[in-house]
Amino acid sequence: MDKIVIHGGARLTGELQVLGAKNAALPLQCAALLGDSPTTYRHVPRLSDVQTMNQLLVGLGCAVEGDRTLTIDPTGVQEGPKEAPYELVKTMRASVTVMGPLLGRHGFARVSLPGGCAIGARPIDQHLRGFEALGAKIRMSHGYVEVKARRLKGARINFDMVTVGGTQNVMMAAAMAKGTTVLENAAREPEVQELAIVLGKMGAKIAGAGSSTIEIEGVDDLQGIDHAILPDRIEAGTFAIAAAITGGDLLLLDAPSSHMHAVIAKLEEAGAECRVEPEGLRVIGPEELAPIDLVTRPHPGFPTDMQAQMMVLATLARGQSVITETIFENRFMHVPELCRLGADIHVNGNVAVIRGKARYTGSIVMATDLRASACLVLAGLVAEGKTEIRRVYHLDRGYETIEKRLRKVGAKIRRYHGAPS
Ligand code: EPU
Repeated sequence: MDKIVIHGGARLTGELQVLGAKNAALPLQCAALLGDSPTTYRHVPRLSDVQTMNQLLVGLGCAVEGDRTLTIDPTGVQEGPKEAPYELVKTMRASVTVMGPLLGRHGFARVSLPGGCAIGARPIDQHLRGFEALGAKIRMSHGYVEVKARRLKGARINFDMVTVGGTQNVMMAAAMAKGTTVLENAAREPEVQELAIVLGKMGAKIAGAGSSTIEIEGVDDLQGIDHAILPDRIEAGTFAIAAAITGGDLLLLDAPSSHMHAVIAKLEEAGAECRVEPEGLRVIGPEELAPIDLVTRPHPGFPTDMQAQMMVLATLARGQSVITETIFENRFMHVPELCRLGADIHVNGNVAVIRGKARYTGSIVMATDLRASACLVLAGLVAEGKTEIRRVYHLDRGYETIEKRLRKVGAKIRRYHGAPS
């Protein structure tokens, strides 16, 4: 297994291109299943999760070609098994997002139940409630869930909680239902808006995406399209923190600043300078970081996917910061690893109290999930001496060649292939 080694202390300066968003790409790959003809996506990030989704689509009968520019031809799915097997769902929960389009377009899907994952239990009850409201019959057996309907019928669905995947899955099923569906308490994430844009281009009739009420008028067929995927706000936020904590100056090309208000607000509160420029977002680190308090919330609140990275920044501020995680019940797995590097963090339930300023010293650390890995990279950038991060396959799920890109802006970071984990 690969490892990443960082020699900390370098100030990061220069330009970094922000690539396409993983969490936009995955549901968009699923959306291609709804079309009568091939769909092409551009600016697709080269990530293992994107490849896993391609593998799943191929198993369903799609022909998939390319990577940065990716073409998905769904015409073979009619004859395919319409099943997402355990082996794929267990490695990537977003696999459940094929359920909505398969159900909407073909009236049937069989998907392995995902079970829990490192950051929480993450049930899919809201997805299933939505399908049921649209008229689908749900059956669970042998660890799989089957959803079935002759033709879905539009309905009013009020989600019990804000769910990004649930909103996207039900939105795709409803796109081909008979009549009108109204989703209330819908997720407002930019990746939900992106999916609505893509479905709209395919011929769907969707209004209100980006607000908490989305209205979908079902249509009989949808066509393949050509679409460039929006840049990744979480990747941009991670690089922004790299600039802030190294006292650096990074211009994040194409960073989607308009989707990053909560993160930019916290960076500014901590003393970083954030400037929206024509080419992207410039972030300049301060001499001394100030403590910050934050609570993770659904968009437009502070994103849970930036919590671990922002915690590194908080450890480097002089004084006390408090971080509260409200989206996932187990998303502090990075804390023990940060403490091993020198942080002072106390966790009580979903609240982490951070006392700075930490003096990080390099060590061997273990990545536990995607964003936890990103936070260890950030800590390694400021640690004295050598930090070795193991299990970097987590990182490869969501950050394309992060070591090469950070090296270009001055980081002393390298990947070693085949190292033991
Ligand atoms: N939830 C339920 N029931 C459901 C659905 C969700 O209880 O039916 C709960 C979850 O357990 C969780 C909360 O609701 O506690 C929010 O879950 P949500 O459905 O919004 O998350 P998701 O769609 O599974 C996406 C991202 C995550 C990101 C979350 C929250 C993708 C592929 N994944 O997951 O991204 O953290 O939204 O913003 O879009 C990551 O990129 O590192 C990542 C984990």
